[in-house]
Amino acid sequence: MLTRRQLLQLGASTLALPASSLLAEKQTPAQSTTTLPLIQRPIPSSGERLPVIGMGTSRTFDADSSPETLAQLSAVIEAFFAGKGSVIDSSPMYGTAESRVGDVLKQMKDHPKVFAATKVWTTGKEQGIAEMEESARRMNVKHFDLIAVHNLVDWKTQLNTLKAWKKEGKVRYIGITTSHGRDHDEFLDVMRTEPIDFVQFTYNIANLTAEDRILPLAQDKGIATMINRPYQRGSLFKKSKGKDLPSLANDIDCTSWGQFYLKFILGHPAITTVIPATSKARHMVDNMQANFGRLPDKQQRAEMLRIFNSL
Ligand SMILES: NC(=O)c1ccc[n+]([C@@H]2O[C@H](COP(=O)([O-])OP(=O)(O)OC[C@H]3O[C@@H](n4cnc5c(N)ncnc54)[C@H](OP(=O)(O)O)[C@@H]3O)[C@@H](O)[C@H]2O)c1
Repeated sequence: MLTRRQLLQLGASTLALPASSLLAEKQTPAQSTTTLPLIQRPIPSSGERLPVIGMGTSRTFDADSSPETLAQLSAVIEAFFAGKGSVIDSSPMYGTAESRVGDVLKQMKDHPKVFAATKVWTTGKEQGIAEMEESARRMNVKHFDLIAVHNLVDWKTQLNTLKAWKKEGKVRYIGITTSHGRDHDEFLDVMRTEPIDFVQFTYNIANLTAEDRILPLAQDKGIATMINRPYQRGSLFKKSKGKDLPSLANDIDCTSWGQFYLKFILGHPAITTVIPATSKARHMVDNMQANFGRLPDKQQRAEMLRIFNSL
């Protein structure tokens, strides 16, 4: 457990240093500059371009509002902005996470533009509306950029409200979410039949299920994809712990296993944005490095998979 003093120092150092400094011991000359190009992908329904690395908030931002915790979370979001991030994903399902994001953004005042995304996770029309209004208050946004129906809960009702809200300009994009392979048949049906802008689901080097049907359909229908659990909830790091990075990592501007895992995902052409979650500023700095530089081609991805499976 870090002391208050250590947390504040971490916050201060993250603010004062360029993002790359926190990874200094692992850097190659190519990555220590900020000249690597930012990677952006368009939302198919509008053409608006998003930086490919966003952030999740499940568990990591479900925290108390003490000054110590807020200093720690501020350091995380500062590192996120320093790495040119903008997509922040939350949900009323994540305890106090929406409120903590709102608290930190309020404190920052002149922060860069945020692409604010949350979810609706309840049953009933009035309940859904009340929940989305409360989410906006908690996250301190006037209107969300994206609201998705969380895990398809009462999706017909909630999507009807979201379609009306989009028409009225109360939300810019709408979508649905799932994770670790749940309800894929119903999920695919909604993708085929409803005018949604985004789908969110799990896809990572240890869970490739989405390659079979969701990713091709998203590409075919022009639906943006937001990838949750990119680290399989952190468990990928257990496999690579203590193992040297392969030389291939250098060819795609990766200096850590985290970046290797994120860039594997981004190498798929149907991916719009990926939302790893962390409670640590130094991990956020690490993750944001994957927002820049080269991506693997098909052959390199096959090699990355082979390397991962042989760890
Ligand atoms: N159905 C849904 O809609 C749904 C379901 C699941 C998730 N999601 C969304 O997707 C987001 C991401 O998924 P997730 O949080 O389940 O899992 P994840 O992003 O795959 O993994 C998070 C874990 O990875 C660790 N981590 C992050 N960066 C790291 C780094 N650079 N080096 C080492 N460890 C690192 C974190 O620990 P530290 O805190 O120690 O860094 C945390 O334990 C969620 O936060 C949520 O916003 C949505």
